[in-house]
Amino acid sequence: MSEGIRVADVDEIDEGEALTVDAETAGTSDDIAVFHSDNGNFYALNDTCTHEDASLADGWIEGDEVECPIHSARFCLRTGEALCLPALINTKAHRVDVRDGAVWLYPNESPLNA
Ligand code: FES
Repeated sequence: MSEGIRVADVDEIDEGEALTVDAETAGTSDDIAVFHSDNGNFYALNDTCTHEDASLADGWIEGDEVECPIHSARFCLRTGEALCLPALINTKAHRVDVRDGAVWLYPNESPLNA
């Protein structure tokens, strides 16, 4: 288990917003989007939509789902599951913790609440 990457203070990501951790920092093949949902929870998915080349961090976040900003595919923020067309391929979910007032990302670890 890695020590995790300190992404931001909790209050630096407004509800309904997301930011990205670049692939080089995360040590992953894709950038990772870290979402603060309107349900108060934080989630992380690979940033690139599995349909075409869109950033899910620019999508619309509602509950435990994010909608792609280009063709409106939706993904489960807890599991990365593709929930509707045109996306046919699930994306990858990563573990996020909130600790000491900060958001921590654990690339390639499964979310605890998946
Ligand atoms: S690029 Fe995301 S649904 Fe098409």
